[in-house]
Amino acid sequence: MHDAAHDILTLRAEAEALKPEAVAVRRDLHAHPEVGFEETRTARIVADALRELGLTVDTQVGRTGVVGVLDGTESGPTVLIRADMDALPMDELSTTPYASTRPGVMHACGHDGHTAVGLMAAKLLASRAGALRGAVKFVFQPAEETLGGARAMIHDGVLEDPEVDVAFGLHLWTGSPVGTVSTKAGALMAGADTLEIRIKGRGGHAAMPHHTVDSIVVAAHVISALQTVVSRNVSPLDSAVVSFGQVEGGTAVNIIPETVRIGGTVCTFHNDVRLEVVKRIRDVAQGVAESFGAEADVAVAPVCEPTVNDADAAGLLMGVARELLGESAVLPTAGVMGSEDMSFFLNRVPGCFFFVGAEPASGPAYSHHSPYFDFNEDAMPVGAALMAGAALRYLGLRA
Ligand code: NI
Repeated sequence: MHDAAHDILTLRAEAEALKPEAVAVRRDLHAHPEVGFEETRTARIVADALRELGLTVDTQVGRTGVVGVLDGTESGPTVLIRADMDALPMDELSTTPYASTRPGVMHACGHDGHTAVGLMAAKLLASRAGALRGAVKFVFQPAEETLGGARAMIHDGVLEDPEVDVAFGLHLWTGSPVGTVSTKAGALMAGADTLEIRIKGRGGHAAMPHHTVDSIVVAAHVISALQTVVSRNVSPLDSAVVSFGQVEGGTAVNIIPETVRIGGTVCTFHNDVRLEVVKRIRDVAQGVAESFGAEADVAVAPVCEPTVNDADAAGLLMGVARELLGESAVLPTAGVMGSEDMSFFLNRVPGCFFFVGAEPASGPAYSHHSPYFDFNEDAMPVGAALMAGAALRYLGLRA
């Protein structure tokens, strides 16, 4: 006879025992990062590991994604456990022994850890396959970082056959201590749009600016003016972010370039706020450019919808976290302005996305996407136990 509660409580210790193996996997992935839709080496490692556990494995789902299905001995609901695999296009500056060996590519968001955690959870649950009623679908997703990996997998049918009833996904989070979880029912993370503004002036000699329309100067004014959109056009009781991460223009110090490209991102929780922000960006950029005799072409493309947790799934996950980690393990959160393409799964099936504390044991906690980013590997068994616990609780155990 299996005792469900007992089975969940042993997960933490079982996950701890798997930690050395998970650390080795994570460090290997960290040293060999691959950007979105190029995760071929990572996908091969994941597919091999899942096959070794006896799962039914599908590859090239959403281009480089991998899906492993663990069938229980009785039919029942299907739980989706999602991990993202992609790295970021940036140089790593940390000096850890497992630092990236590939110039211009780095696991700066911890998705190497998510992949290792997903494999740990698969191992924890595979050892209980005989007691499972239903199925667990392990989804290793490519291209989470603004490239639409979740959409590609959904397009390829990842939510069907077997049809998914609930989905869980996590993010290791260096802003909170190991052994804690933060999540909430409802909107947890913002939706995001990318913003591309092309300023077109009239190029010419830098020493004769009066014969030009200086696109660099116009771009500087446009960027400054757009800082007022959030502060002056959005209600102080709502949330929005307008940030620019790219400014490109010019080829030499003595040439005024014809065009400048400004790339940015808009984050909002609600569609009416989003529409107002996008409209004001367009109006202000075009108006400012025009006042200098230049033109501004503004293109906005949606990246992610807001990540909204189902109340029941969030309640289940928080309950599992309290059981496994203690009553005070669940930290309150007002939500996060970052976005997640887990939202594409959660807008189609109910589920819960949650943050797993991964603050470094010593030294500074560099932010996600920092060239020095690293996380506390002690968080990996915590994440795996939570994922496995949530799946077991949802499916129930065969008595
Ligand atoms: Ni991330």
